[in-house]
Amino acid sequence: MKSEDSEIVKMLAGLFGSLIAMAVILFVLAHMIVSGADINPRGGAAKAAFASQAAPAGHATIASRVLDAVISPAQAAAMPANGKAVFEGTCVACHGPGIVGAPKFGDKAAWAHHIAKGLPTLYKHALNGFHGHTGTMPPHGGNPSLTTAQVEAAVRYMVSHSR
Ligand code: HEC
Repeated sequence: MKSEDSEIVKMLAGLFGSLIAMAVILFVLAHMIVSGADINPRGGAAKAAFASQAAPAGHATIASRVLDAVISPAQAAAMPANGKAVFEGTCVACHGPGIVGAPKFGDKAAWAHHIAKGLPTLYKHALNGFHGHTGTMPPHGGNPSLTTAQVEAAVRYMVSHSR
């Protein structure tokens, strides 16, 4: 009877010991994740470096706005060909406010001569890029991780809300 009791006590002690060890490991892991949160390849430092290289003075805000709107390849791959989501993830950077010569979302007058070209041409220009009278549309809206279907869905979304 006595030896059985001490077996149970030993077992419980072992169990508690490993629970405490696990709690400590989880705490350390959580701490590492939290403090490593800004070690992100698309994070602030990379964006700032790109913005200052790519943009002459005065355009930094536009460049960083575009970069902020660009989603990561992992996010893009997980996204269905949902025109609204693609628009809001990428195209909105220029077509939302209508900056750098991009026809503004919902602006029928601005879109009319684009829409007149027909969807196949608009798809081609959105996919391959396009230099027009007002500015430059970058290929895939500057987001190479978007699929053809995603870019075309975004074109349809913008066109159907701007005619
Ligand atoms: C960096 C800014 C920028 C982003 C981001 C952008 N566009 Fe554009 N886009 C433009 C500009 C500028 C034009 C106007 C070019 C012209 O007609 O002079 C344009 C024009 C277009 C046109 C009309 C092309 C034509 O032949 O008339 C389509 C369609 C289009 N964009 C689709 C998209 C889609 C879809 C996305 C997102 C996947 C996107 N754009 C993201 C700048 C942008």
